[in-house]
Amino acid sequence: MAELFTPASLLVTGGAGFIGSNFIHHFMAVRPHCRVVNLDLLTYAGNLENLKGVEGNPRYRFVKGDICDGALVARLLAEERIDAVVHFAAESHVDRSIEGPELFVRTNVLGTQILLEEARRHWQKGVEQFRFLQISTDEVYGSLGATGYFTEETPLATNSPYSASKAGADLLLRAYHETYGFPTLNTRCSNNYGPYHFPEKLIPLMISNIIGKKPLPVYGDGKNVRDWLHVRDHASAVERVLTQGAPGRVYNIGGNNEWQNIDIVNLVCDLLDSRLGRGAGENRSLITYVKDRLGHDRRYAIDAARIRTELEWEPSYTFEQGIAETIDWYLANREWTEKVTSGAYRDYYERMYGNRA
Ligand code: NAD
Ligand code: TYD
Repeated sequence: MAELFTPASLLVTGGAGFIGSNFIHHFMAVRPHCRVVNLDLLTYAGNLENLKGVEGNPRYRFVKGDICDGALVARLLAEERIDAVVHFAAESHVDRSIEGPELFVRTNVLGTQILLEEARRHWQKGVEQFRFLQISTDEVYGSLGATGYFTEETPLATNSPYSASKAGADLLLRAYHETYGFPTLNTRCSNNYGPYHFPEKLIPLMISNIIGKKPLPVYGDGKNVRDWLHVRDHASAVERVLTQGAPGRVYNIGGNNEWQNIDIVNLVCDLLDSRLGRGAGENRSLITYVKDRLGHDRRYAIDAARIRTELEWEPSYTFEQGIAETIDWYLANREWTEKVTSGAYRDYYERMYGNRA
């Protein structure tokens, strides 16, 4: 397929987080002529440890800053002659959004609007070719029953403050395209897993707790379903949409890989039994059912036909390979987990799980 757009100078927001950092590693490796500027506030979820390996590259620049700082964004767009924005920066954890929705609205809704506005002004000064890609989530579509899939036409029906804030950002993006003709792209991906995943999310939390022989908190009946995609496959899909996607269009991204939570937890337990020299079934004894998440979406499942057929994108990892590699990465990088789980994270963990375990 012919490329519609070849970026020369890319602004990535939230590039020190889980998906953003994996995207930067991927993109810098496969796009040797593009410059990458990473704007990240380094919240609890942002870690420069994730970017070892690109730090010294002359094509890469890190800027610590807030996407809500319009003056900073405007300056970066102009001085780096940015011709594309890939916007990952967000508050991303559903449980935290239930504890405190306000920050989610500030970062995810207001932050996106400020970025959109500065990028639109910059583009209207005469940048010939431009793209603004907003990274979103399948969670904007709400919850499915036992059957069916989310397509790009599924109505938005959000159930958590996190997903509501992401939907708000997606709708602003749409408005900028419809109102100003601004060249936007919108991706909506299913749950990611892989290296550099912050250990408050299901898979890395389970790995970390198994290693530490701590209880494994499974919400509700454990039968909620998520559709898991390797983060490097998400990165390749984002690159494909950026360079070949049609402005104004939404693209779902998913791996056709549905799992009930309890089955994932059992699988991770079993894969770690032998790796940690423990007896068969030993890790499963750590599983503890806890109170369900409020408003817990039952099932997510993506229909990724559009990106597969229109942009000829396919995931490259099998789940079997991806989950084994991910577990091995966490075993080989235990000090990474130690470093990223700061005091602030420990306080959060104590509040969430302290009196349940
Ligand atoms: P993450 O929480 O790991 O990283 C978020 C990054 O954004 C961090 O580096 C943080 O420091 C930065 N950030 C937060 N507020 C900022 C601000 N005001 N200014 C600048 N930087 C700021 O998140 P993630 O899991 O990597 O998710 C990235 C994006 O992908 C998010 O938009 C999320 O909604 C979306 N998404 C995530 C998943 C998933 O499974 N994790 C799935 C689909 C979509
Ligand atoms: P999570 O990783 O938070 O992603 P999301 O809520 O964005 O899908 O959670 C994935 C699933 O795992 C979700 O159904 C909630 C469940 N879960 C648990 O059962 N226990 C946990 O400790 C966590 C963090 C999640």
